[in-house]
Amino acid sequence: MTMTEAPTGVPTESFVAVPMPRIGDQAPAFTATTTQGAITFPADFAGRWVILFSHPADFTPVCTTEFMTFASMQDEFERLNTALVGLSVDGLYSHIAWLRTIKERITFRGMADVEVTFPLIDDVGMAVARKYGMIMPGEDSTKAVRAVFVIDPAGIIRAIIYYPLSTGRNFQELRRLVIALQAADALEIATPADWVPGEPVIVPPPGSCGTAKERVEDPSVRAVDWFFATKDVSEAAVMEAIDS
Ligand code: BEZ
Repeated sequence: MTMTEAPTGVPTESFVAVPMPRIGDQAPAFTATTTQGAITFPADFAGRWVILFSHPADFTPVCTTEFMTFASMQDEFERLNTALVGLSVDGLYSHIAWLRTIKERITFRGMADVEVTFPLIDDVGMAVARKYGMIMPGEDSTKAVRAVFVIDPAGIIRAIIYYPLSTGRNFQELRRLVIALQAADALEIATPADWVPGEPVIVPPPGSCGTAKERVEDPSVRAVDWFFATKDVSEAAVMEAIDS
């Protein structure tokens, strides 16, 4: 997908057409300087899931709450074999100063002394943000929106979420999304609206009349209709299935 026309309000001369990565695409490759040293993406993360996310700017309040929340959940993501990689259109020294300030001075929702140990990309030249479609000129031409790319161990983009500058993300939802993606792969199921581990999962619809008949007669699934069947998978079974 390529955005070929300047959005309303953006001067045509300042608009640069950007190909937007899509779900199912190989994650665009880049090298970058980060707060944890140089990275080659996604090669350095091969074999792991990655949440690559952008935020608008260092030393801003919503972003500060997001980083504290993500950092406090890092162990939970590690248990899901999932690495966190942040990005903003700021330089390395700004990142370092901001992360030091967060650790030394900021409290939020009972969190204090929070150390951000996942890499935060210096993207002051916007090379990565442009590659991933994180700059939305109708929102802001120099700040990245709150984008989230969930990338699987083979380097394929599996989910994309965009939030505007004004709205902090829900990090429990990001954790739920990673578990749902991993469960879909491991158990060959899908997950219904508002699913959380332990709730019934969706058995994918049958692909032929024969399998539709088998589905409605299968005692191991609850077939409400031929296309709508669920089955129980306990939370422990989900977590065991996705354990890698
Ligand atoms: C914030 O993180 O607080 C923020 C950043 C850019 C625009 C609005 C809010």
